[in-house]
Amino acid sequence: MRQVALVTGSSRGIGFAAAEALARAGFAVAINGPADDEELRGAVRRIEALHVPVMAAPFDVSDTGVHADWLGRISETLGPLTTLVNNAGVGVLQRGDLLDVTEASWDRCQAINARAVFFLSQVFARHLLAKERPAGLFHSIVNVTSSNAVAVAVARSEYCASKAAAAMVSKALAVRLGPENIAVYDVQPGLIATDMTAPVIEMYRQRAVDGLTLLPRVGEPADMGAIIATLACGKLPYTTGQVISADAGLLVPRF
Ligand SMILES: NC(=O)c1ccc[n+]([C@@H]2O[C@H](COP(=O)([O-])OP(=O)(O)OC[C@H]3O[C@@H](n4cnc5c(N)ncnc54)[C@H](OP(=O)(O)O)[C@@H]3O)[C@@H](O)[C@H]2O)c1
Repeated sequence: MRQVALVTGSSRGIGFAAAEALARAGFAVAINGPADDEELRGAVRRIEALHVPVMAAPFDVSDTGVHADWLGRISETLGPLTTLVNNAGVGVLQRGDLLDVTEASWDRCQAINARAVFFLSQVFARHLLAKERPAGLFHSIVNVTSSNAVAVAVARSEYCASKAAAAMVSKALAVRLGPENIAVYDVQPGLIATDMTAPVIEMYRQRAVDGLTLLPRVGEPADMGAIIATLACGKLPYTTGQVISADAGLLVPRF
């Protein structure tokens, strides 16, 4: 029997790389983005080319009212879900002084980066616990939070707060779902070259070479995909509740 994953925010960036890595590992994959647009359909076609079952699951993760319906549809189409990758995320509406942060930007970060992670995971867990699960499959939730769950970027403080919340959600889920044999991981990417970081990535490429990260380069989405697939395949057996600092040593304390 196949593993079946929903990867949120997988129309591009880290989420797409995760979907691709999972497909290469033999998973059936549901590709998600907030809209049923050409970007989402293009991502589905690229995964189809890997000859695994795939479907589009267009929904806004912050719309909690549709979660249960979509998880049901995915299981009906691809088979029983085994894996949830909570990757969808947004940055701030405007970088700048903490004293100028708007409620709209705070609420958007919380709704997509934290609240959606909690409630989609809740529905996913209920979905798994409602049925007998076949032996031999690895069940997990992989949350993509950020180095900013730990390290302050003061010009994006509302993003940092939302990622810190998601990191605590990961820990709480690990505690609740451990006895149910569902592993939960928190992947904390550092500086990864995607659309989200496009305006600043060239500056960070140089800073990485200059020593900001221990390994002297920024990350690629494929690096994150490999980490997420490793976790979702159960290749770190006898672990749960772990934070994976996917950051080339960015946050290793030194002086
Ligand atoms: N890049 C980095 O350096 C970095 C570092 C630390 C953490 N992260 C985290 O890694 C995750 C992926 O980041 P990325 O760099 O790959 O970002 P990205 O290139 O901006 O891609 C974000 C993805 O999430 C989707 N998305 C956004 N809002 C959504 C919603 N409400 N419902 C469903 N899907 C939604 C986007 O869909 P559309 O294309 O339709 O907008 C897109 O597929 C995020 O959680 C981010 O915070 C990234």
